[in-house]
Amino acid sequence: MPSPLSAAAIDALRESIAGVRSTTHFNHAGSSLPSSATVEAIHAHLLREASLGPMEAGAAAAAQTERTRSLAARLLNAQPSEIALTTGNSAGWGAAFAALGPWRAGERILVARHEWGGNLATMRHVAQRAGATIEVIPSDSTGRVDPHALEAMLDERVRLIALTWLPANGGLINPAAAIGQIARRHHIPYFIDAAQAVGQVPVDVAALGCDVLAGVGRKALRGPRGTGLLYVRQDFLARLAPAFVDTHSAPLDAHGEPVLRNDAQCLESSEASLALHCGLANALHEALEIGVNNIRGQIDRIANRLRAQLAEIPGVSVLDQGVERSGLVSFNVAGLDALSVRRALAAQGITIGSNGVAYTPFDMTSRGLTQIARASVSYLTTDAEIDRLLAGIRTLAH
Ligand SMILES: Cc1ncc(COP(=O)(O)O)c(C=O)c1O
Repeated sequence: MPSPLSAAAIDALRESIAGVRSTTHFNHAGSSLPSSATVEAIHAHLLREASLGPMEAGAAAAAQTERTRSLAARLLNAQPSEIALTTGNSAGWGAAFAALGPWRAGERILVARHEWGGNLATMRHVAQRAGATIEVIPSDSTGRVDPHALEAMLDERVRLIALTWLPANGGLINPAAAIGQIARRHHIPYFIDAAQAVGQVPVDVAALGCDVLAGVGRKALRGPRGTGLLYVRQDFLARLAPAFVDTHSAPLDAHGEPVLRNDAQCLESSEASLALHCGLANALHEALEIGVNNIRGQIDRIANRLRAQLAEIPGVSVLDQGVERSGLVSFNVAGLDALSVRRALAAQGITIGSNGVAYTPFDMTSRGLTQIARASVSYLTTDAEIDRLLAGIRTLAH
């Protein structure tokens, strides 16, 4: 497949990233490398805070926060009023889940087997006390969640369908829009964890048919740590009762009564890092300028090359399932645990991730896996970096 971004364009983009000169980074799914313009946007606001006073600088930069929200809305095909700015994926997803209100005995939550462990912890914490259940939707033979199996599980007790679109432990991409069609048809709330998707694959919340979609700044978007985006469908907002409100989400009126905002900001908190909002705005702007379709095409090309060449190394098993695949490449090296692979590569200046069971417990246990090594690529990953990674793994597999 021809490269959707020219080599010259990639070189120019890499010029502006300090990290590519000091590390060979294959942990973009953990957190990617920001551009210097993103770092400068954060720094510039911190300097404004230091010279004007943080609250005074904040008032002057309020337009930046709204710019961040508008850019996020554009990226997701949503309205700005449907976007809450959060501090991370779990913070946004958890706030929306908590706002569903109390759970009752017998109510059911249906999840795909790839659900992020943090979301499962959030759901279990509440469901166990209430006597609600969490049930796993079967996957098809390729490992993807099976929409037909979901349909067969539905009854009036199902109160939530939750899907992790791009799982954390490999390259599989779930059919999120097909699940959305079923959720819409049956009027069941549908939450998508898009932590790995936002900035990596085109996201159109209308086409996905979701009520809530959580994303994060620091991964494929190459924004700062401590930032996240939460989409809540306008018509769904009325069904939410935030578990926690403050002077921003529900200011008191003249009678001392809290007045809940009628937009997604009802799930935001009053205190936020405007410096990080400035950085996130820049990262969103860059992703929109480059074009998420181009990013997706480039990641696909690079990840497929990595997968194909890894599979040729004796002793290495590539573990990615699914049909359409993401930039997350999971593998194991015979005779070595994933953490040792990660540490040995780190000693050579190459960063990868390694996951145990807890991040994706249903998927790992159903496949008999206790750990995976994970090399995740960016659209800025070069062939030379892939060669370096493969050489490192060849030495270990020997
Ligand atoms: C699929 C998925 N969901 C959620 C998270 C958690 O994101 P955060 O640490 O921002 O809460 C991650 C982090 O890697 C993830 O991969």
